[in-house]
Amino acid sequence: MANPGVYRRLRDKFFPEGLPPAGSFEGQTVLVTGGTTGLGLAAAQHFAALGAHVIITCRSKERGESVRHKIEQRGKGNITIMELDMGYYSSCVSFVDELKKTQSAHGGLDCVILNAGSARYSFVEGPEGWEETIQVNTLSTTLLGLLLLSWMKNKQKSRKSPAHLVFVTSRDHLDPDISKWAEWATRDGLLQHFSMKENWPAGEMNPNYANSKLLVMYAVNELCRLAMGPDGKPCIIINTLCPGLVQTNITRDVSNQPLLTKITVSLYFKILAKSPNYGARSYVNAVLKPQEEHGKFLIGAFTEEEYRNDTGMEMQTIAWNEIIRELGSKVPDLNKVIDDLGQ
Ligand SMILES: NC(=O)c1ccc[n+]([C@@H]2O[C@H](COP(=O)([O-])OP(=O)(O)OC[C@H]3O[C@@H](n4cnc5c(N)ncnc54)[C@H](OP(=O)(O)O)[C@@H]3O)[C@@H](O)[C@H]2O)c1
Repeated sequence: MANPGVYRRLRDKFFPEGLPPAGSFEGQTVLVTGGTTGLGLAAAQHFAALGAHVIITCRSKERGESVRHKIEQRGKGNITIMELDMGYYSSCVSFVDELKKTQSAHGGLDCVILNAGSARYSFVEGPEGWEETIQVNTLSTTLLGLLLLSWMKNKQKSRKSPAHLVFVTSRDHLDPDISKWAEWATRDGLLQHFSMKENWPAGEMNPNYANSKLLVMYAVNELCRLAMGPDGKPCIIINTLCPGLVQTNITRDVSNQPLLTKITVSLYFKILAKSPNYGARSYVNAVLKPQEEHGKFLIGAFTEEEYRNDTGMEMQTIAWNEIIRELGSKVPDLNKVIDDLGQ
């Protein structure tokens, strides 16, 4: 029987999701992190074409400006470029401070897509002392989520309908075998375990990618709880999302790998991956979900929740405690932000 994953990828490659009608995002402000390439860039193009003011983050202002120019040249486009380097907590904090300063007077944000992500094929320790994939995909993404949720929740009082906060994760979060996670958590801590070079498995393509995406899924489940209002309804609609397999720069790190790995990865993506234009349609449709969909993991027409078994929930508590202990100890006032959100 044909592999259903392969079937689904081929179907998605040739049959794209639809898009809402022209003008659907007129008057709205949409933030897309990591918007100078891949899915982030394609999403920015969709939102701009649908009438939104789009804020794109980038690590290089020069590159950001050249992207802004390109999108605006294609026709409709109201693009703002802002700098964000998720390797550093200080950059995440100053980015959100700057957003508040510049956007508060304009009603804040209607939609946020936390898209920026890293997939390392070899071990790289980031400036905050954690393996880069864990830093970007788990720690800094959770930090941005907390800071933005706190601001958006306050802003919600002056809105008619809830704003949207989407975390781009991956279906790969279903891959890790978590049977040893409790042991690792007791011995070194999960974040530490995944950030030790000696634990980096030889021969695996990007071993921490799936771990970092599962850790962030756990964190987002907790953010979903913090997003609830006193009436039991979400003040902000939060979703996690997998765009499917998409031909982007996500495999950039493979260039340092053996020839066979390069060929395998390149062929896999060439045959099965869809275009960024098609992949990013799922971002547009995610921010149109009603509040009943709050907390759901969106993957095309399917939702998958297998990871939420008893062991998974135990790991969620452990992971969340580690993540907020790390963020709370490094980011001034974050504990107060979390306490206020929990009120
Ligand atoms: N492509 C797929 O098949 C696929 C499948 C499932 C999920 N995803 C997820 O989709 C998201 C977008 O990935 P993509 O496929 O579009 O890959 P991509 O082309 O490599 O884009 C990744 C984006 O993240 C940004 N980024 C990486 N590290 C960063 C950092 N330290 N600080 C700030 N920005 C950083 C990159 O900025 P620079 O350009 O400055 O490096 C880039 O804009 C990721 O979260 C990825 O995990 C992708």
